[in-house]
Amino acid sequence: MEMSLEQEVQAPVAVVTGGGQGIGRKVAEALAGEGYALVLADLKEPLETLAALEDAGAQVHAVVGDVTSEVYAAQLAEQVRHRFGRVDVLVNNAGVSLLTPAEETTAEEWRRVLEVNLTGPFLLSRTLGKLMLDAGGGSIVNVASIAGLHAVADRAAYNASKHGLIGLTRTLAAEWGGRGIRVNAVCPGWVKTEMDAADQASGGYTDSDIVERVPMARFAAPEDIAQAVAFLADPARSGFINGIAMPVDGGWTADASWNSLRMQKR
Ligand SMILES: NC(=O)c1ccc[n+]([C@@H]2O[C@H](COP(=O)([O-])OP(=O)(O)OC[C@H]3O[C@@H](n4cnc5c(N)ncnc54)[C@H](O)[C@@H]3O)[C@@H](O)[C@H]2O)c1
Repeated sequence: MEMSLEQEVQAPVAVVTGGGQGIGRKVAEALAGEGYALVLADLKEPLETLAALEDAGAQVHAVVGDVTSEVYAAQLAEQVRHRFGRVDVLVNNAGVSLLTPAEETTAEEWRRVLEVNLTGPFLLSRTLGKLMLDAGGGSIVNVASIAGLHAVADRAAYNASKHGLIGLTRTLAAEWGGRGIRVNAVCPGWVKTEMDAADQASGGYTDSDIVERVPMARFAAPEDIAQAVAFLADPARSGFINGIAMPVDGGWTADASWNSLRMQKR
């Protein structure tokens, strides 16, 4: 007798956007290590992440496309349903940065940042959330930023997109919590990824600007963020946590000290 797809795939299934590199790649690896089958959604074919996950023995599938497209969101959901028959976790991690003074930010730049960082997570939450609602359970984790909780100058579009993503997180938590779906956000401080390298190359800041500002005196590692995402994804560890925006920032947002005071203690 031929088995249905649902019977074939026993592992829980996680979709990670922007899974090709940086934080998304570490999230995918952490979830694979916990036994999830992975679907990677990225603009580019995530060849290295695919190979690493396959070497580690994970079931993995990539769907290349742009998270801002409604057509792509529908195709992704259809491939997830067809290939795995279920989705347990969605990690909305894909994002873009923009370092520009507010008065020089063009409408086109503003719209693109809002599209990728906020509309994309909405479209994927809506589309994959329907599968979760039908199944009666699931967890969505949005990768926001401390820039979603506080302002950082020269990032009007980025900050607004991440504040909006936290608003979306809370709204979906309120709407869907009673139907078995938890929706939470992580708010990383500065993380050493290609996004950071590009932002530093554009003259935005230096390593020491960040290290001096963080009480724990270092950048976040992608692994720090991945472990927080894995915690929020897992109903066994965070089953009553819904609607939070959790800083993973080494104490940045807790600390209102001025720099010389903080540096006296180093
Ligand atoms: N690096 C940091 O310091 C930092 C701090 C706080 C929050 N974040 C957030 O973490 C997330 C990941 O950041 P990162 O540093 O790993 O970035 P990154 O630039 O290294 O990787 C981003 C990934 O997202 C993909 N992507 C971008 N736009 C996409 C789109 N429209 N559709 C599909 N995929 C797309 C890229 O191809 C890439 O693989 C982002 O949402 C970012 O805003 C990063």
